[in-house]
Amino acid sequence: MKMKLAVIPGDGIGPEVAGEAVKTAKKVCDMYGHRAIFTEAPAGGNAIDRYGEPLPKKTLDLCKSCDSVILGAVGGWQWDSLPGDMRPERALLGLRGELGLYANLRPAVLHEALKGACPLRKEIADAGINIMVVRELTGGMYFGDRGRKDTPLGQAAWDTELYSVFEVKRIAEAAFDAAKKRGRRVTNVDKANVLESSRLWREVVAEAAKGHPEISLDHMYVDNASMQLIRDPGHFDVIVTTNMFGDILSDEASQLTGSIGMLPSASLGGSGFGMYEPIHGSAPDLAGKDVANPIAAILSIAMLFRYSFSLEEEAASIESAVTRILNQGFRTGDIYSEGMKRVGTKEMGRLINESIGRS
Ligand code: IPM
Ligand code: MG
Repeated sequence: MKMKLAVIPGDGIGPEVAGEAVKTAKKVCDMYGHRAIFTEAPAGGNAIDRYGEPLPKKTLDLCKSCDSVILGAVGGWQWDSLPGDMRPERALLGLRGELGLYANLRPAVLHEALKGACPLRKEIADAGINIMVVRELTGGMYFGDRGRKDTPLGQAAWDTELYSVFEVKRIAEAAFDAAKKRGRRVTNVDKANVLESSRLWREVVAEAAKGHPEISLDHMYVDNASMQLIRDPGHFDVIVTTNMFGDILSDEASQLTGSIGMLPSASLGGSGFGMYEPIHGSAPDLAGKDVANPIAAILSIAMLFRYSFSLEEEAASIESAVTRILNQGFRTGDIYSEGMKRVGTKEMGRLINESIGRS
């Protein structure tokens, strides 16, 4: 198979982890006889510095001309005081919106070897955690109308949560699809006891579920869901939720796996095209020190093979290699515990890549 891949290394630890991820993709392509062409492009803070804008048109055009996008991370304190539409994060939102990537899959899996790093009680960790958060990614408060105005009480600001039936239905379908390949259970998370947008959301999800009798669907308010995630994570198989709630709950879910450095993501638009990135940020304090955990970025490459190219064996070969290296006791700082072998970003990447295809 031939693949054209855009690579956006980004800021902070982005280039380091994306670098390891690209090496993984190359290794798998070599092993399985695929040809991939990688083209790098700027976005985020580095693009603001060089081109005066977070998402240059050239970068967007490159992404559109490729089969998929690999992204490191964007952002950093240098750009924190810029106005909202000039911040590095705009690049991410612009890519998601412009590329139509409405479905964000964020699997939170607690590896056997990392059970000790799970902050929950031992019996809960021992029961295992494997949750797929399906986050709506191109609507809701992230993309709704916003602004500021003067009021008698002084300046005020607003953001709007708006969801159409169309948007809710298509993300619900993405969640049901995901659930069919897993435990066939979907938990819809909303705030339907307060928000009108959530009431519509819930109606549409319930209606869509009628077309999938093999799926069992339950509904949960987001406050309860955030509690159940740490009280009884085994309750969850697939979670489907809004852009805003999905952002928050996926960070919470990541902690159950030991570290946010473990969580990959796929952002999909229904056509096979996708953007693959770790869910963590640019961690400027760790940048350039060869200490960041590259596993989330590397596991994102597994998702790339699986979701954009339907290459399940290739995807599984990466996931098995990660499991093997963790079982052998290798750890980056974020998942380190006594008695384990501490390694840096590059060494972790090298170990995993060398282990791909072994058993
Ligand atoms: C994420 C991040 C982004 C988001 C930020 C960096 C804009 O937190 O991908 O979860 O809020 O979506
Ligand atoms: Mg987030």
